Amino acid sequence: MNTKIKTGLFGFGTVGQGVYKIIKEANLPFEIKKICVRDTQKSREVEASLLTFDPQEILEDEEIELIVEVISDSDSAWNIVAQALQKGKAVVTANKKMVAENLEGLLRLQEQYHNPKFRFEAAVAAAIPILNLLDDYFAHEPLKSVRGILNGSSNFILSKMYAEAQPYEEALKEARQKGFAEADPTLDVSGQDARNKLSLIALLAFGKIIPPHEIPVQGIDTVSAKEIGEAKDKNQKIKQIAEIMLDENQNLNLSVTPQLISANDPLFSVDEEYNAVLLEGQFSGTQKLYGKGAGEFPTGTAVVADMLAIAAGKYYRYEKLKPELVAG
Ligand SMILES: NC(=O)c1ccc[n+]([C@@H]2O[C@H](COP(=O)([O-])OP(=O)(O)OC[C@H]3O[C@@H](n4cnc5c(N)ncnc54)[C@H](OP(=O)(O)O)[C@@H]3O)[C@@H](O)[C@H]2O)c1
Repeated sequence: MNTKIKTGLFGFGTVGQGVYKIIKEANLPFEIKKICVRDTQKSREVEASLLTFDPQEILEDEEIELIVEVISDSDSAWNIVAQALQKGKAVVTANKKMVAENLEGLLRLQEQYHNPKFRFEAAVAAAIPILNLLDDYFAHEPLKSVRGILNGSSNFILSKMYAEAQPYEEALKEARQKGFAEADPTLDVSGQDARNKLSLIALLAFGKIIPPHEIPVQGIDTVSAKEIGEAKDKNQKIKQIAEIMLDENQNLNLSVTPQLISANDPLFSVDEEYNAVLLEGQFSGTQKLYGKGAGEFPTGTAVVADMLAIAAGKYYRYEKLKPELVAG
């Protein structure tokens, strides 16, 4: 590729800066033409001429072909992404809340505007390429279950409470300092963030649109230091497990809950900000995917992979969703 794709970046926090640095350092074929942020007073390590506080400056720029949306406000994100798709721009987002809460609307927009250029790999498990794998590699594999640790901050907090007997508040503070936590960390510790991710997995693994509010959830904020100590005494751990199981009647059962797991569970050794996903396929058996589920560069890497995929004309296939759409 000789010419660089003119790109508009929304958000310059943990993920936005990660994306910006990776593109520069790896000399990738993207030119970040403008960066839209909110706070006019913040000092930033980027030329002031690149910044804007007006989303329309990017959205109405016909030269900008690709939008990277990594802001922390999901309502504004939906407005940005919906406008961008309507204008025929390609969109990469990391915003699981926005995607999960607007799945149907996003699919409809793509259909209506004949714009399939939309990817959201970074929204689930950051550096683990789970969505790409589900949409492409496992497109024709009937899956029986997906079970995993999908929230880096919750896992980090539980790991610190377990290994170092750190108090909950202190572990949460450290997770925030390290950039693992959401701008509103109640999303992490209440299990809502993992629930949003499960909704995206349900779409690509099973072809089902399941709004997050329909998924039963319990947060790690209900887990006490005493319970963690008791688990440790029995060589067990408490982990926030997100799971989708297909039962014998072909019904999907989804949940996000803190669970007591034993040392022979493949998720037992998954600690700190790491995530893992166990996929059980009808033909392939069980696969375990493991990697960093949060942070500047792991998340930035997933965003950049989507940008490169779009540049190469690779869009989600939604293979498992198609029969439902045709029938509907
Ligand atoms: N952090 C992670 O490890 C991680 C992992 C996976 C996915 N994500 C997702 O990635 C997105 C960004 O997360 P983050 O951790 O980078 O958040 P962050 O560090 O809090 O940064 C958020 C950025 O969004 C900007 N922003 C917020 N509202 C805006 C608005 N209405 N218009 C323009 N800019 C706005 C902020 O502007 P100011 O700089 O002016 O405040 C800031 O630059 C979120 O959707 C999150 O769920 C994060």
